[in-house]
Amino acid sequence: TGTAKKTEGEQPSKETAIRVPNPHLQKMKEDVLYHLALGTGTHNLPALFGDVKFVCTGGSPLRMKAFITSIAKEMAIGSPACDLPNICAATDRYAMYKAGPVLALSHGIGMSSIATMLHELIKLLHHAKCSNVIIIRIGTSGGIGLEPGSVVITKQAVNASFKPQLEQMVLGKSVLRNTDLDEKLAEELLECGKELHQFNTVIGNTMCTLDFYEGQARLDGAICSYTEEDKMKYLKAAHEAGVRNIEMESAIVAAMCNLSGIKGAVVCVTLLNRLQGDQITSSHEALVEYEERPQKLVGQFLKKRLGGK
Ligand code: URA
Repeated sequence: TGTAKKTEGEQPSKETAIRVPNPHLQKMKEDVLYHLALGTGTHNLPALFGDVKFVCTGGSPLRMKAFITSIAKEMAIGSPACDLPNICAATDRYAMYKAGPVLALSHGIGMSSIATMLHELIKLLHHAKCSNVIIIRIGTSGGIGLEPGSVVITKQAVNASFKPQLEQMVLGKSVLRNTDLDEKLAEELLECGKELHQFNTVIGNTMCTLDFYEGQARLDGAICSYTEEDKMKYLKAAHEAGVRNIEMESAIVAAMCNLSGIKGAVVCVTLLNRLQGDQITSSHEALVEYEERPQKLVGQFLKKRLGGK
């Protein structure tokens, strides 16, 4: 699954190396990346992953497999007849695939699932001595005031009070982390969306919530303690604050990329317009096509960055 381009012991330059702001890591003889079924004692991480430059992550393992298969085909990486293996096959928590410098990795649903994966991914990239890595989440979301099927590239991930910060509880105390995403990367991705001429692509703020129902002001969950009027007022206030879509992982991507010196981006298609309803009622075919849009956009980005063969 790829070979390291750097020689043993060679360190990437400071500006571009992966930062792991954790002094305890240096004292560990071995690091077990439990949820990825990988580790420094069991795998040669620099040889396996040292050439990784792009990590694309999405909720579903199947979507990640479809994505890497199309990227490998586009880049003429590997043989078209042979299936790319799931590198994390020894666990069913996450699935990981690699095609040349591109890693595709599933993250499950929600902030706690993606945070656990990102801790281990960032350590993996650090142990593998990777440099200049970009992480892009490709996913689905609920839109606000946009035609369904539009793709939103996140400028800032905001919380339920529309503030660009993530509250992390550390030792029982609240720590606030910055959730801005890389502006230049967002602009470059917007250009890729526009070049495709296949769907509406915008840059906007993304509200990141703890759940799909009450957290996103839906009226159709098992529990709801507000009126339709309250819901509409809240969603309109979110729109006023620059929020164009709602999902459940962007704040973690932004905060963890910022802390580890990695350029991060979030590219999500909107499955519905939340000003018109709560339930996702589009046909299966329409939803499948929508879900392919962020993959197509990031495929275009990778094609330009890597050069198709
Ligand atoms: N994902 C979400 O978190 N919300 C939606 O409305 C759709 C997809």
